[in-house]
Amino acid sequence: MTNIAILSSFLITLISVEVVLSLECYVCDRQEDNLGKCAQTIRTCEPGQDVCLTEISWGSTPYWQQGALKQYYISKNCSTKEYCAKYRRDNMPLCTHIWYQDWKCSECCKGDRCNYYIISGANKIGGLRNVLFVSVVLSIIYKIL
Ligand SMILES: *[C@@H]1O[C@H](CO)[C@@H](O)[C@H](O)[C@H]1NC(C)=O
Repeated sequence: MTNIAILSSFLITLISVEVVLSLECYVCDRQEDNLGKCAQTIRTCEPGQDVCLTEISWGSTPYWQQGALKQYYISKNCSTKEYCAKYRRDNMPLCTHIWYQDWKCSECCKGDRCNYYIISGANKIGGLRNVLFVSVVLSIIYKIL
């Protein structure tokens, strides 16, 4: 192999290791929409946190108000697979999507910044970017070797 090939495969290995070790997730706490913090704040997760968690809830403001309108609350964070799966399971009975009730749903996803989109019900969007990234890296490695 030429020096350049060795160097690039080294760099790619480094990048891949980086991708595996430090997951990045969007992080926000009970925001009213998916535009501000929830779409802009990115955190590098702790080692061992291997999924991104998204929670969407629907309800009225925490303090009582007559005729208070219900609205969405969106939270996102890093999580471990085990914790997120348990959290999701616990929320499952609350995940009704019935507009006149309060409800709460959560999702776990794998991959950098995979919790950008709110996944609610059956419409899953996103995640394609990572598939593309992995296939580009693989095809580069394939060409070098
Ligand atoms: C995200 O999770 C960490 C623990 O891993 C916690 O300390 C932090 O407060 C959480 N952030 C939000 C915005 O909920």
